[in-house]
Amino acid sequence: MILSDIIMESKKIAVLVGSLRKESFSRKVAKTIITLSPDTLVLEIIDLSRLQMFNQDLEESPPTEWTEFRNKLKTFDGVLFVTPEYNRSVPAVLKNAIDVGSRPSGQSIWNGKPCAVVSNSPGLLGGFGANHHLRQSFVSLNIPTMQQPEEYLGGVAKIFNEEGICTNETVLANLRFFTNSFADWVSKHTLEKR
Ligand code: FNR
Repeated sequence: MILSDIIMESKKIAVLVGSLRKESFSRKVAKTIITLSPDTLVLEIIDLSRLQMFNQDLEESPPTEWTEFRNKLKTFDGVLFVTPEYNRSVPAVLKNAIDVGSRPSGQSIWNGKPCAVVSNSPGLLGGFGANHHLRQSFVSLNIPTMQQPEEYLGGVAKIFNEEGICTNETVLANLRFFTNSFADWVSKHTLEKR
């Protein structure tokens, strides 16, 4: 296979959304990104609603959902985190998924998997605290995290119409640029792994 084929190969991206809420803005942002992403990315939102709370005592005989989650995530080339901010930090559902994926010790599913973070909020700060608390965990987990462009999407409650479609052209342009940059980031790190 020649270099350009490797670069053009489509990459599977797991999308982890930090909200279980039915009308979650974060999920709508994730779906918007999926519609904007280049052909070289195939994105899939992963259901985190059945993932039991991490408890190290359960590792001897892990819940089926943990094993399924770990095995499934291993099949992806990269991860996109789309998160709201809870109390200036990461929602428990997302932190739990990170913790579950990080164990058993030495078998973390995250090691070397390229990722990017999109935070959002109805408020002005766009979930900055959640975005950077996620990045703190990623240092320890050796997740190559896209540094630029950053995406802190403020005023998220105002960008969707009643059908949940984003109608704000500036936001759409920013997300398109972000997603194209992420595609390049994933390609670069996939190449480095070969
Ligand atoms: C919030 N919210 C919030 N917003 C923010 O910008 N900074 C924050 O620290 C918090 N903290 C917070 C804590 C908890 C427990 C809740 C439930 C909410 C508001 C939050 O941004 C808003 O509810 C979003 O709509 C949640 O994201 P989804 O569910 O729409 O994706």
